[in-house]
Amino acid sequence: MKTYKIAVIAGDGIGPEVTGAAVEVLEKAGQLEGFGFEFTSCDAGGCAIDKYGIPLPEATLDACRASDAVLLGAVGGPKWDNVEPSLRPERALLGLRSGLGLYSNLRPAIMFKELAAASPVKNVDTMDILIVRELTGGIYFGKHGRSDSVETLSDGSVKGMTAYDTEEYSTAEITRILKEGFRYAQGRSKKLTLVDKANVLESSRLWREIASSMAPEYPDVTLDYLYVDNCSMQLIHRPSSFDVIVTSNMFGDILSDEAGMITGSIGMLPSASLGAPGTPGMYEPVHGSAPDIAGTGKANPIATILSASMLLRWSLGETAASDRIEKAVRDTLADGFRTVDIAASESDKIVDTAGMTAAVIERI
Ligand code: IPM
Ligand code: MG
Repeated sequence: MKTYKIAVIAGDGIGPEVTGAAVEVLEKAGQLEGFGFEFTSCDAGGCAIDKYGIPLPEATLDACRASDAVLLGAVGGPKWDNVEPSLRPERALLGLRSGLGLYSNLRPAIMFKELAAASPVKNVDTMDILIVRELTGGIYFGKHGRSDSVETLSDGSVKGMTAYDTEEYSTAEITRILKEGFRYAQGRSKKLTLVDKANVLESSRLWREIASSMAPEYPDVTLDYLYVDNCSMQLIHRPSSFDVIVTSNMFGDILSDEAGMITGSIGMLPSASLGAPGTPGMYEPVHGSAPDIAGTGKANPIATILSASMLLRWSLGETAASDRIEKAVRDTLADGFRTVDIAASESDKIVDTAGMTAAVIERI
């Protein structure tokens, strides 16, 4: 029997609960489609700080590199709010993304019609957006630091310390992610929107120049441009008109939370982080570690279950198993099962994390 190697980084807060759910779902789908898994559990984030004093042990990176794919829960929490910035739990995530070369972050935001009532936006009938977020460049990885600069401001006050973070993008980095955007648009409804701030930022202007020079290579794709502030408004105003959005690291981070909420809950949004062919992809929910509900059974496991489904499709090529999981999630929602974050009507069957997982598994 074919066996896939999966590194599982449960992380902090609700991370262990939601990755546990996804592992059960993967096992069930594998059983039915005739393949198995070897799961290796690895430490990263706050729990790694507690054990080893660092958020991302080298052994975790090595285990990820030796796997076919990585499944991650979430990292971080108030417990580690006061640790030195270079040792924060979030550094684990950034270290995994850059260490594994995962430059392309796919964040599909799909409105399930069953959840329309849970959306804070009125009358969203359909929404099926793919956000392609650049993941290893931009302001997240640009020069940053602090300097002491003494300067008198116009009101007479003296400026002391200055802190800076820089947004830098090279032609190669931009071209690489735009290619992904065009390719995904070709496989969908052939509409690509580049989201930037080209009216202000030089880096955004370079993104636009490169995108327009690449467009003739993809004559079947309609490319348009939108400033990020306008995009955040249009996402609320006309969510169904978007297809593929390609954007920088920071703008993609912000817009994917917004798109997630339109679907009813950020607890519904999966993601895939991919690199060059041959590198293991990393799959994680878009939501965070939600320390306030950790251990209460309130966590919605669907984002991680759908991330597991993306793992099957994008890293393992197991499309039948991936389809099974997606359909099972749809059926579970259609049958009325809801975790509290997506509950909106009296007829809902409210379940906890384990109840939702069991309902999905039953329908696989
Ligand atoms: C995300 C998260 C991370 C990010 C944080 C936790 C570093 O918000 O994956 O969207 O900003 O990329
Ligand atoms: Mg985010």
